[in-house]
Amino acid sequence: MSDVNRSTDSTPTLLYRPRRLRRSPALRRMVRETQLGVDDLIYPLFVMEGERQKIEIASMPGCYRYSLDLLLKEVAEACELGINAIALFPVIPEAKKDATGTESYNPNGLVQQTVRAIKQTVPEMVVITDVALDPFSTHGHDGIVDENGIVLNDPTVEVLVKMALSQAAAGADMVAPSDMMDGRVGAIRKALDAAGYIDVGILAYSAKYASAYYGPFRDALDSAPKFGDKKTYQMDAANAREALKEVSLDIAQGADIVMVKPALAYLDIIHQVRNATSLPVAAYNVSGEYATIKAAAQMGWIDEKKIILETLTSMKRAGADLILTYFAKEVALMLR
Ligand code: PBG
Repeated sequence: MSDVNRSTDSTPTLLYRPRRLRRSPALRRMVRETQLGVDDLIYPLFVMEGERQKIEIASMPGCYRYSLDLLLKEVAEACELGINAIALFPVIPEAKKDATGTESYNPNGLVQQTVRAIKQTVPEMVVITDVALDPFSTHGHDGIVDENGIVLNDPTVEVLVKMALSQAAAGADMVAPSDMMDGRVGAIRKALDAAGYIDVGILAYSAKYASAYYGPFRDALDSAPKFGDKKTYQMDAANAREALKEVSLDIAQGADIVMVKPALAYLDIIHQVRNATSLPVAAYNVSGEYATIKAAAQMGWIDEKKIILETLTSMKRAGADLILTYFAKEVALMLR
């Protein structure tokens, strides 16, 4: 009689043999601590003016700027794959940009039109809109800039409030301030409530670092700052305690979900934020993280699918509940 469990060599007793629980796929699944699921994914999408247009972003192969008609198809496809939420970013033509980003709160602007159209065609999709001036400003900064190049906090918050209100009026489920101005979460919450949008949520980019990983995104939107950098408002990569301070300020001001961005170089921050709040924690697997994997995969140097799953699983293991990722559709397909 064969005895499959019997070892052929006569090794001595070892009380703990961790390999016992790794012997088969079923055992490994039983003791798996972290699950990556399609419900965790938020799919960032770029919308542009025009019709029947889909332009690939050079530094983000596989990602496109879509005109509204084609974006709606993409959203419907994402929905069929089980993706619950999208985050919307607009490509604004140079002619509509100005110093204070007034196009951002045009009730018939590109974002507002897009939100309305998505809500009409794929109403179950959670639509998250970005609140920051950089796609709309001639200088590419997230706020209003004075004659000395200083980004002005409180005047910027006033514009952000108008932007958030116009997005809520268009039907956005959540607004996502990504600008890192002080006090903007509270100001937006107050204004939304006063206007009756009590159920529109705030996904706060709470710990957003001044990162070189945003490069490809700025190519996509043509939104790179024309002068200086974003270090007077986005966080210093060397700081962790400060992230906890930012998170606690945003929570005190009414954030519904807090976010850490970027994700991969900041897994320790995700972990600490997880332990500091009972709110859902989101992580943004940003454009540069996407581009890095795509480039190495195109060279044939890594196994793209395995690297994507391993990378996103590490974000969940660190403590993220939600992941904004340009890989969302690919992952949804893999998890099927
Ligand atoms: C701007 C904004 C940025 C991203 C999201 N919102 C870029 C920046 O701060 O310069 C980056 C996203 C990515 O890199 O994928 N408010």
